[in-house]
Amino acid sequence: MAATEKGLRKGLTSYGDERFSLFLRRVFIKAMGYSDDALDRPIVGITNTYSDFNPCHGNVPDLIEAAKRGVMLAGGLPMVFPTISIHESFAHPTSMFLRNLMALDTEEMIRAQPMDAVVLIGGCDKTIPAQLMGAASADIPAIVLPTGPMLVGHHKGEVLGACTDCRRLWASYRAGNIDEADIEELTGRLAPTRGTCMVMGTASTIACMTEAMGMTLPGAASAPATHADRIRLAEASGTAAVRLGRDGVLPSQIMTRAAFRNALIVLQAIGGSTNGLIHLAAIAGRLGIALDYQEFDRLGREVPVLVDLKPSGDHYMEHFHWAGGIPRLMLELQDHMDLSASTVGGISLAQVAARAELVPNQTVIRAARDPIATGGGLAFLGGNLAPSGALLKRSAATPRLLRHEGRAVVFDSIEDMTTRIDDDALDVTADDVLVLRNAGPKGAPGMPEAGYIPIPRKLARAGVKDMVRISDARMSGTAFGTIVLHIAPEAAIGGPLALVRTGDRIRLDAEARRIDLLVDDAELAVRRVAWRPPAAHPGAERGYKRLFLQEVTQADQGCDFAFCRPPS
Ligand code: FES
Repeated sequence: MAATEKGLRKGLTSYGDERFSLFLRRVFIKAMGYSDDALDRPIVGITNTYSDFNPCHGNVPDLIEAAKRGVMLAGGLPMVFPTISIHESFAHPTSMFLRNLMALDTEEMIRAQPMDAVVLIGGCDKTIPAQLMGAASADIPAIVLPTGPMLVGHHKGEVLGACTDCRRLWASYRAGNIDEADIEELTGRLAPTRGTCMVMGTASTIACMTEAMGMTLPGAASAPATHADRIRLAEASGTAAVRLGRDGVLPSQIMTRAAFRNALIVLQAIGGSTNGLIHLAAIAGRLGIALDYQEFDRLGREVPVLVDLKPSGDHYMEHFHWAGGIPRLMLELQDHMDLSASTVGGISLAQVAARAELVPNQTVIRAARDPIATGGGLAFLGGNLAPSGALLKRSAATPRLLRHEGRAVVFDSIEDMTTRIDDDALDVTADDVLVLRNAGPKGAPGMPEAGYIPIPRKLARAGVKDMVRISDARMSGTAFGTIVLHIAPEAAIGGPLALVRTGDRIRLDAEARRIDLLVDDAELAVRRVAWRPPAAHPGAERGYKRLFLQEVTQADQGCDFAFCRPPS
């Protein structure tokens, strides 16, 4: 059977007789009541990532129904199939640990089952990256349909959102400014609808970058999860998928080097999540494209932050949507982006931007001449502590701490930090640099979002809101502070972070893009000889954990499995 076969004839199960394979396939699928007419249509797969454990995907059943309608309106046959679903708060040890499993699942299921195109319905942080990694490797026509952001919440007259305000209010509770009754009531207010976190956290960042890469229809990143617009986008995505399948438009033709550069520009302009860079590196890596981090940093210095959303600004995703969303933002970024890039909607980014809604007097998307910040939302750091790089979200940092030297206070693991951080006997001041290590891809494992090291309780109570904090962990895109993340190589494999001792001096110089340990080389050499790797993780000898620990790459490589990248 030729590889160019379409529909039900695609990718026949091997029984040694292709006609028998097709015969058997038709026998079984007819048990579902399909007619021959239906089975002769182009097939569009639709991923079902609904799960009772995943409220960010709570609207997936509605989106599936609308996408199916769109497929049928265009003369195709929709076929819904399940893949793994991952929610941030329901993934042990971390969602990042499972992202690559979802990528493998998505890749193999869209390759194994006969479909001419696929609608990838995802949303919660790791899901769309996993789907794009899988689609890039399988390279069959694909369109992403995000579940969309939640609406905002309200509490005592204040507008709130998951999960920047979850962190802010929890910090306030830790400092003794919020009582038990309020914190309990807030569990029902911070995430008031289905959909993804409505700040510019990781889910929104990924959705925005995906739209800017041309892998969604216009507006798909920002239309609220609960609105009719989201349903119409689902229908239109189903229709577009039939066309993509008919024309044979591949993800590799949309996600080009120019598309990834466009995504990096948008990441900077939205003051996006630090996680965005890791996921983009992983997706690009599947296509044999290496992100240029020096260029990313250069772009950061050139591209202004234009979107005024929490955690760097004041607004939420629904406000971004009604201000014009990504199409309107691209209009402001036209001097930076390559708008000749194509999209799954069949038009160029320039055509998308030309149709952007121009909303009078909106303040969410600033004009390029009136930015919220210049000099980069995200800064890529080097220095002797980060030979393979580290990341700092400048737009969420305290300006006076961007150049800071302080004494290291080291925590050897997340458990160590949890045990000691609130101990009143902990020797720590506001000028110190908090160091967390062994929390990277292999160290934790799964690179948890532990980089948002809490301010020690005794300092929080004294009014300290921010300190320089550094780690090989990640941080939620909804968090804020002067926090250096993704230090690579990580401590668990002997990166320089493993050699830091409490009392050492550390210097952060964001302008010079450096994070340095101020200890001389001779002393570091002595420490390196004495260093021993941490004890093996329980359960590391078998199963997925073994595969993960053996194959996961460092942050600068996107934490993908090394064997999932194409041979160089
Ligand atoms: Fe799913 Fe925030 S927890 S997007």
